[in-house]
Amino acid sequence: MAVLASWVWVLIGYLSAAVAENSNPSSLYPPFWEDTSGEISGFALEDGKYIINPWVFTDRMGLYKILLSKTAPYFAKYGPENEQNLLWGLPMQFGWQYRTGRLVDPTGRTTCGYKTFDELCVSVDSWWADVNYFLSVLPFLAAVDSGILGISSDEFTILPPPLDESRFCYNVSDCKKLVGEIMDSWTTFFQYMQLPSSDFDGLLQHLWAAHTASLEYPISVFADRYAYYSEQEENFEQNWAIAVNYIAAAYFPTTLNRTNSFQKGLPPRVLYDTDIPPFIANFTSLQNKVLLSLTALGDIDELTGSLSLNAWKILMSSKFAREQFLKVFEAFLGAPTSNINS
Ligand SMILES: *[C@@H]1O[C@H](CO)[C@@H](O)[C@H](O)[C@H]1NC(C)=O
Ligand SMILES: *[C@@H]1O[C@H](CO)[C@@H](O)[C@H](O)[C@H]1NC(C)=O
Ligand SMILES: *[C@@H]1O[C@H](CO)[C@@H](O)[C@H](O)[C@H]1NC(C)=O
Repeated sequence: MAVLASWVWVLIGYLSAAVAENSNPSSLYPPFWEDTSGEISGFALEDGKYIINPWVFTDRMGLYKILLSKTAPYFAKYGPENEQNLLWGLPMQFGWQYRTGRLVDPTGRTTCGYKTFDELCVSVDSWWADVNYFLSVLPFLAAVDSGILGISSDEFTILPPPLDESRFCYNVSDCKKLVGEIMDSWTTFFQYMQLPSSDFDGLLQHLWAAHTASLEYPISVFADRYAYYSEQEENFEQNWAIAVNYIAAAYFPTTLNRTNSFQKGLPPRVLYDTDIPPFIANFTSLQNKVLLSLTALGDIDELTGSLSLNAWKILMSSKFAREQFLKVFEAFLGAPTSNINS
């Protein structure tokens, strides 16, 4: 267990080893953030309903902006400019997927997502886009259902993708039927947020519970997508899905700055078969090390069954241990400790 713990420690340390050095928060925002309104009225109105197409990058990002804007009051006490909003992790990761070419049609059958053709298209054949659907549309619908957005579910329509329509859901009642557990876990998060007694640690706990609950269904249902990728990218996808559980157990605080730092360790483009870490040309040494660590973690997890994750969860179950972890981690970063005003 000690060996395992240090591995994961190292992994998460690497994942965040770079420090955000940008000079203003807006430079950290995900692509097209400033181009979406943060209001449901920013979507086109047709026959009295707002039309949302989550297979268009800016539409899906628009859902995130509504979520971030409407939940800002609940994070205001933790820092200015909504920087401490823990929902930042989601649009930031979606933005990373876009920038690194992970939302394009991996089969090459269409021009969906390719620069100069259909740049804003989000491909239903992209594994990343499919999994992200359950981390964007689902939290949005649960937020609508919990009342936190002040939007009613009959005000808008969510459009289906061109393929595999039945693997997704499009409204509150439909999603409760298809993936009730995902809806429940996000609803729990949004309800907790509105409690006067909610605190940062509790928010993290509920957020990560909802995040991990959202992955089980898409990861099994979209396993057919792996075939569209190189073996290296497929391994990365699978190891990433495993690593998320470890990051979740440590309650990684997915604020704007921390998520930004974290992303510097992630591969800047889709992997080819010839990309063998730690020797990938044009990747930073951090990016190479992260990939290597992810492979190691995936191997350990597979070798030990669920044992290693359980051991890690036990280790991380005390707030003291998690605090120690973050300290080590920030010392590793050489970053100023703690949040704001420091
Ligand atoms: C929800 O979506 C399902 C499937 O797309 C549809 O059959 C149903 O009428 C929708 N319900 C509402 C309330 O819009
Ligand atoms: C690395 O970058 C150089 C210069 O930008 C480029 O010519 C080369 O093809 C890249 N190598 C790989 C493996 O991507
Ligand atoms: C986040 O990063 C921005 C830009 O580097 C910085 O101005 C701000 O103080 C940071 N905020 C926190 C809470 O660390």
